[in-house]
Amino acid sequence: MKNNNDAIQQAATVIQRGGIVAFPTETVYGLGANAFNPLAVARIFEVKRRPYFDPLIIHVANPDDVKHLVKEIPSNANTLIERFWPGPLTVVLFKEENIPDIVTAGLPTVAIRMPSHSMALSLIKASECPIAAPSANPFGYLSPTTADHVREQLGDLVDLILDGGPCPVGVESTIVSFLEEKPRLLRPGGVSLEEIESSIGKIEISPIGEHQPSAPGMLPKHYAPRTPIVLDWDKKNLNLLKEKNIGYLAFQESMSYLGFRSVEVLSKEGDIREAAANLFAAIRRLDTMKLDLILAESIPEVGLGRAIMDRLRRASHVVPQ
Ligand code: TXA
Ligand code: MG
Repeated sequence: MKNNNDAIQQAATVIQRGGIVAFPTETVYGLGANAFNPLAVARIFEVKRRPYFDPLIIHVANPDDVKHLVKEIPSNANTLIERFWPGPLTVVLFKEENIPDIVTAGLPTVAIRMPSHSMALSLIKASECPIAAPSANPFGYLSPTTADHVREQLGDLVDLILDGGPCPVGVESTIVSFLEEKPRLLRPGGVSLEEIESSIGKIEISPIGEHQPSAPGMLPKHYAPRTPIVLDWDKKNLNLLKEKNIGYLAFQESMSYLGFRSVEVLSKEGDIREAAANLFAAIRRLDTMKLDLILAESIPEVGLGRAIMDRLRRASHVVPQ
């Protein structure tokens, strides 16, 4: 679509009429509907084949909009909102009664974020309603970071796809809940734990794979490609795998992947932001190469590295103890 404004207006009309629209955010592409239209939201679950017990994030275009959606905003939450919105941070708070149960999977809580992508913000404003949106991928698969990723997997099933180019952050938002005395990190993401703790002090961290009734979507098997990913492999065993057709997901340029047929380098210089932005597209490319196996390199777990390792662990189905 040549003219962004026209495309956004058209998308907003679709949302207002109860349709579903795939749209870019700074993290990944979302699949959105009017958060106050339960039938429209139900279509998102159908199209994604997402279980109804897995709640959605509500996207707003103004920090003040949160006030109408939640009971109260604890001061710690306010501090994070002021510092990181618009941006890749989602807060979980006790919800106001007016939010349809289908959005929150019947929970008394709601997840909310204000994206920073200009197209996402324009879409929400033009639609004149908050937009409930999960990532625009079939349930359990990698999140899309380009409009083509969405087209390939959900193409005909959605009413409109807004193309805003590749998502600059590349991993989903960081989710922090404010339901207990201490804030809790539910999902590492585009805002690093270090940045959050520098604002509000130490927070609790939910271990990966912990099955929390409040966040059933954080299942360990999320973000799985079709090809098995192996993360903490033992170099000594590589000889045993000689017969296999193996791909290699490297963090940076090095000698370690010489000899592998299909290699994806996330960031030549080893820049973690660049690596995050390339992560899902790189795994998707390897996933189309009919490999027996993808070996993935571990990445230092600082900053965005924590979110990257979280996604790789889930993709490799390994839940550390
Ligand atoms: O960056 C993102 O957050 C992207 C873009 C599109 O905004 N969205 C995204 O949505 O990743 P989704 O649905 O793929 O992941 C949202 C996660 C799910 O794991 C869900 O379980 C959790 O948020 N969630 C939603 N509401 C919740 C709640 N009330 N309490 C705890 N977890 C919640
Ligand atoms: Mg998702």
